[in-house]
Amino acid sequence: MNIGLAVIPGDGIGPEVTAETLPLLDKIGTLFGHSFTYTEVEAGGCAIDAVGEPLPQTTVDTCRASDSVLLGAVGGPKWDTLPGDQRPERALLGLRGALGLYANIRPALLHKSLRKACPLREDIVGDGIDLIVVRELTGGIYFGERGRRASQGGEEAFDTEAYNELEVARIARQAFQIARLRQKKVTSVDKANVLESSRLWREVVIRTAADYPDVELNHMYVDNAAMQLIRDPHQFDVIVTSNMFGDILSDEASMITGSIGMLPSASLSDSGVGMYEPIHGSAPDIAGLDKANPIATILSAAMMLRFSLGLQEEAAAIEQAVTDVLEQGYRTGDIMSPGTTLIGTAAMGKRIRDALS
Ligand code: IPM
Ligand code: MG
Repeated sequence: MNIGLAVIPGDGIGPEVTAETLPLLDKIGTLFGHSFTYTEVEAGGCAIDAVGEPLPQTTVDTCRASDSVLLGAVGGPKWDTLPGDQRPERALLGLRGALGLYANIRPALLHKSLRKACPLREDIVGDGIDLIVVRELTGGIYFGERGRRASQGGEEAFDTEAYNELEVARIARQAFQIARLRQKKVTSVDKANVLESSRLWREVVIRTAADYPDVELNHMYVDNAAMQLIRDPHQFDVIVTSNMFGDILSDEASMITGSIGMLPSASLSDSGVGMYEPIHGSAPDIAGLDKANPIATILSAAMMLRFSLGLQEEAAAIEQAVTDVLEQGYRTGDIMSPGTTLIGTAAMGKRIRDALS
């Protein structure tokens, strides 16, 4: 297979973690008979510095024309004071909108060998944590009408949460399909006791569920879900929720696994192009210091092989190599615990490549 990837290293630790991922894909290519070609493009802060805007049109065009997109991270304090529509984050939202990436898949998996990194009590963790947040990514309040206007209390700002049936049905279908490959349980999270958009959300999820009678469905209010994730994470298999609730709950879910530096994500469209990126941000405080954990980006590449390219065996090989290196006791700083061996970004990348077979 010939695979053309758009690569957006981005800002902060983004370039370091992607630099450890591309040679790993090359090794997959050698072992399994594929060839990868990479077209590097800019987005985020580096694009602001280079061409004055966070998401240049050439970046969007290159991503559209590629089989898949791999992204490191965008953003940093240097660009934090820019007005809202010129910030590096606009690049992410712009790419999601332009590529139609409506389904964001965020697994929260606690590796057995990383148990000590998990902040939850041992009796709560039990035999591990393994859930997936399916977040709607191109609708809701992050894409709704917004603005400022005069009011009796001075200037007023507003953002709008709106969902239509099509948007809810297609993200629900993604969740049900993923659940079929797992424990066959979907929890739909909303705020239907208050929000009209949540009431429609719930109706449409229930209607869509009729096509998936083998999958168990339950509903939970978002405040309760935030609490239940910490009280008893085992009750969850697949969580499906709106853009904003998913943003918040997926950060929480990643934290209960102990290291955000471990978690990959996939953003999927119906047109075929997917975007794959680590859940963590650009971590400017450790950028360029060979301290970042490249595993989340490496596992994002594995998700890409599985979800966009249909290469199951190759994806499993990467995941196994990561597990092997962790079991050998090698750790980056973020997942260190007593008795393990601290290594840097580049050494971790090399160990995982060497473990591939
Ligand atoms: C995420 C991030 C983004 C989001 C920000 C950077 C716009 O927090 O991917 O979760 O809110 O979607
Ligand atoms: Mg977020």
